[in-house]
Formats: sequence, structure tokens, C-alpha cells
Amino acid sequence: MLEFLLPFVLLVLLLLALSILWRINTRKYISSDTVASAYDAWTQDKLLERLWGEHIHLGFYPSGSENINFRQAKVQLVHELVNWSGLDQLPKGSRILDVGCGIGGSSRILAKYYGFNVTGITISPAQVKRAKELTPSGLNCNFQVMDALDLKFADGSFDAVWSVEAGAHMNDKNKFADEMLRTLRPGGYLTLADWNSRDLRAYPPSFIEKLVIKQLLEQWVHPNFISIKEFSDMLRSNKNSAGRVYSENWNSYTNPSWYDSIFEGIRRPSAILSLGPLAIVKSIREIPTILLMNWAFRRGLMEFGVYKCRG
Ligand SMILES: C[S@@+](CC[C@H](N)C(=O)[O-])C[C@H]1O[C@@H](n2cnc3c(N)ncnc32)[C@H](O)[C@@H]1O
Repeated sequence: MLEFLLPFVLLVLLLLALSILWRINTRKYISSDTVASAYDAWTQDKLLERLWGEHIHLGFYPSGSENINFRQAKVQLVHELVNWSGLDQLPKGSRILDVGCGIGGSSRILAKYYGFNVTGITISPAQVKRAKELTPSGLNCNFQVMDALDLKFADGSFDAVWSVEAGAHMNDKNKFADEMLRTLRPGGYLTLADWNSRDLRAYPPSFIEKLVIKQLLEQWVHPNFISIKEFSDMLRSNKNSAGRVYSENWNSYTNPSWYDSIFEGIRRPSAILSLGPLAIVKSIREIPTILLMNWAFRRGLMEFGVYKCRG
């Protein structure tokens, strides 16, 4: 009897230990320093990069294309966003700012395929180091450590400003919008993708939804989420925007990313195993958050917002 029960007891103990680790070891947002140290750690342990490649964002799965994998879908998202926002209309050599550039996945595509001159900034020094290592010499891409809420560039320095999945980490979304539009030249292009909540003022969250949002904030250093409408209004009312802001919810294109991000670990077990036992624990530790994200995005509690407007 004991022999029969032992595996179950061990499994329950393992799940208990992981759930305690998940709750104790949260990554609450305190300041942009907490965001920097979280991304430094995610970069230095190499797990994210080995598993998901050089892009730290969701993928775009065009309807009907079931054969596309997570990494291809991430590259596809960059091209879809370029086309949707009209960035492909800009001439080669245009100056682009990539705000919250990660390890430079988007920046390198913008430089390589579209011929742009790209500056990427991130709050994480480890990401800048890795972005530089990954960028071939000769590609028009440079990377700097900088806070998106305090950009060290003169007004109107860029022909386009691009930001993918960085805004959810900013505690002051107005300032985030303000800095991007300030550094954009008049008539330039602003292109953004971000994680948003649904409009919680118009459609208040249930008790369960509130609990889920709390976890999504605390697990991955997010200070708050706002709706697509709230952020669009901020862009529209900014003194440096031309006033017309277009936004869409791309949940239907991006939702497959959540399960796919887990399958990626199953497809490439050596990516995790080669980094040792701690990497296995670390990757299992992220699964509950990924599943909660999947639930929230599929339910419409969270929305993948894309935005375009002109300076
Ligand atoms: C989810 S990652 C996206 C990275 C990249 N855009 C990509 O798509 O691969 C979020 C990025 O935002 C950056 N970030 C968050 N807060 C920031 C801040 N206050 N200033 C600059 N970068 C910030 C992080 O360092 C990280 O590079």
C-alpha cells in the first residue's frame, strides 16, 4: 500500500514546494530597478533565450497557419506590426528608437530587413550586453541602458518610435507616452504593442479575476495594467501627437503563444536540461503564470493592444 502511495505523496510534496516557491519568490514591481534586476536575472541564466530565442514577446499566428512555431510566430509579429503601422513606408536609413528593446530581437529585424538605423534602449544592463553580443558588426543597431521614462534624447530625434511589450512595466503610462512622442519628429511614426487589461471601469473584474490580475502583476514585475482605450486616450491627448490614434486587439492572433511557449520546452528539452537542475525548477516555476496569462487573455480579461499614431 505504502509503495503504491509513495509516488503520489512525492508528487503532492513537489507541487506544494513549487507553489510555496511561486508565492514566496514573487517579482513584485517596486521601482524600475526591480524590473532591471528581473531582466538581468532572466538574461544571465540564459533560460529565456535558449527556450524562446532572441524575442521576448508573443508571436503572431495568422488564421489558418497551424504549422508556424513559436519562434517563427515572433518574427512574424514584428513584420505584421511593421506593415500594419506603415513603418515600411519609411526610407532606408530612417532613425528608429526601440523602447524596451530586450536583447534586440526587433531592433535587428528593423535594421536588417528594412534598412533602418536603430537605437535600442532597455533598463537592463545585462540585456544591453547580450544585445551587443548578438548583433553582427556592420548592422546599424546600437544599444544603451536607459529608462524609458527619462529618455536622454533631444526632442524630435527619431523618424519612428517602436515599443513591444514594455509599457506594462511602466508605472507612469502617461510619462511613457509623453517621452516616446517627445522624441518622435513631427510626422514620424509611433508603433506599439502591449499587454492591456480590458476596460475594468466599464466592466469591473469578478473576485476571481481580481485574484488573477494580482498574480499577473506580482509574478512578472508589472506595476499596473490599463485598457487599450485608456492608453489610446493618453496618446491622443498628448501635445506631441497628431491626434489620430488607431488601436486593435490582437488576442486572436497572439493567444496560441501561451501554450506554444510551454510546448517549446517539450520540443527542445535540451535547452533546459543543458543548463542544469536549477533551470528545470526555474522553468516549471513559470508555468502557473503562463497558464494564468493564457486564461486571462482567452477570457478577454487581458488584451494584446497594438497602436499606431503620427507625431
Ligand atoms: C517583455 S520585454 C520585451 C523586449 C523586447 N521589446 C522584445 O520584444 O523582445 C520588456 C522590455 O522592457 C524593458 N523595460 C521595462 N521597463 C523599462 C524602463 N523603465 N525603461 C526601459 N526599458 C524598460 C525591459 O528591460 C525589457 O527589455
